[in-house]
Order: sequence, then structure tokens, then C-alpha cells
Amino acid sequence: MTSSGENQPARHQEVGHKSLLQSDALYQYILETSVYPREPESMKELREVTAKHPWNLMTTSADEGQFLNMLLKLINAKNTMEIGVYTGYSLLATALALPDDGKILAMDINRENYELGLPIIEKAGVAHKIDFKEGPALPVLDQMTEDGKYHGTFDFIFVDADKDNYLNYHKRLIDLVKIGGLIGYDNTLWNGSVVAPPDAPLRKYVRYYRDFVLELNKALAVDPRIEICQLPVGDGITLCRRIS
Ligand SMILES: C[S@@+](CC[C@H](N)C(=O)[O-])C[C@H]1O[C@@H](n2cnc3c(N)ncnc32)[C@H](O)[C@@H]1O
Repeated sequence: MTSSGENQPARHQEVGHKSLLQSDALYQYILETSVYPREPESMKELREVTAKHPWNLMTTSADEGQFLNMLLKLINAKNTMEIGVYTGYSLLATALALPDDGKILAMDINRENYELGLPIIEKAGVAHKIDFKEGPALPVLDQMTEDGKYHGTFDFIFVDADKDNYLNYHKRLIDLVKIGGLIGYDNTLWNGSVVAPPDAPLRKYVRYYRDFVLELNKALAVDPRIEICQLPVGDGITLCRRIS
């Protein structure tokens, strides 16, 4: 039943849609009220070091770091993977959430940026949980999917790297995550560009990756092997819970 006319789909406003983040001030309010006061000292230090790096736009936001940290505790994650490390903010959020014998296979083509954050991760006493592999993630995933011993072994996998490969990652990760485990795909709202009109003035890299993000979102929405939940945290994160 709709209020907008016979056979017309109800519009969001009419079914109680609330856009929570109506302003930058509201986002700042969240950061200042609930995120920064509870941010572990090591994450704050890493965030401040990263802020001085020329590519700091790539870092995971503090509210998303807090979200990941709690999510990992809620699901009792122990064996995890991260694709796309940069200076390690989401990696540290993960490492702090895992038990002392927890593991993170962390992959990035760039070791230098990881090494910027590494002393802070070491000082936080969680570096022993991290197995960092320098290089493209896809060939590593190929090896792991060929070798059956990794199948169904990961509690959580965070994907935050080359968007043009997300569907290729998904093909492999679905075998590596355990049934009941989670894959989190980051940037699935891609700067809001997923709803931009075709002629909108987008930065070149935003425009380039947008089609891949749109394709991913469509594919995840119809994938019967997972349940999904797309959250407007950070640049959008889609959680996929493997069910078969
Ligand atoms: C958005 S950043 C990751 C941010 C990170 N999660 C954080 O919390 O700061 C994306 C990273 O993916 C890495 N990357 C790009 N292509 C990759 C690939 N094929 N395999 C692994 N990492 C890749 C980049 O070097 C970059 O550090």
C-alpha cells in the first residue's frame, strides 16, 4: 500500500526514511562526542601521522575505525584478512580488537606507507598479530583458493584497495571466508557518486571507479551466498555475511 498513488512505489520520505548525516556539523558532532574521546591513544597517534601524508585522503575515517573495532569484538573474530593497508589505521583498529593469538593477513602493494604506521602498531603491542605481504592481493588469493586448506578459515575480511578488482576479490573471498563470517567492502557509496547523474562533474578517478562500484553493488545485492547490509559509515561499507 502506498500513499503516493495507486501502483506507485512509496518514496523514501513516505516510509520514514531519515537521512542522519544532514551536515558536516553533524558528522563533526559524532566525531567529537563519541569517537575521538574513546579513540585509543595509538589510533590517535597513527591518525595524526597519516594526516601529514600527501595521500591522507585514502585513510579509513576514525568513526569507521571505531565501527570495525566493535564489529570484530562482537563477532569474536580471530582470523582476519585486510586488502589495502596504507598507513594501517583500519589494520590497527582490527589488531586492537583481536585476541592476543589473533591473526591478520594484511596485503598492500606499498610497504613504505605501512612502515610509516608500523612503529605505532609495534608500540601498541599488536604487531605480532600481523602478517604483512607486499604485492598485489589477487595472486595471493589465487594461491589460497587453489590450496584448499584456507577455505572457510577467515572470520572477517576487509577489502579497501583497487575498486576495479572488487568483483574478482569477491569470487575468491567467498570461498575463503567461513560460513557465518563477514566480508566488508569499503567505499561502496564512492563519494556519493553512485547516485550522480551521468554528466555530473566528477574527478577523473571517481568517475573511473564508479562503474566498478555500481557493478559490485548490483552483484552483491543478488548474490544468494550472502546476506548483506550496506551502511553509510565512512564512504559506505557493505557487510556480507556468508550463508552458503
Ligand atoms: C584506501 S587505501 C587503504 C586504506 C587503509 N585501509 C587505511 O585504513 O588507511 C588503498 C590501499 O590499497 C593499496 N592497493 C592498491 N592496489 C592494490 C592491490 N592490487 N593489492 C593490494 N593493495 C593494493 C594501495 O597501495 C593503498 O595503500
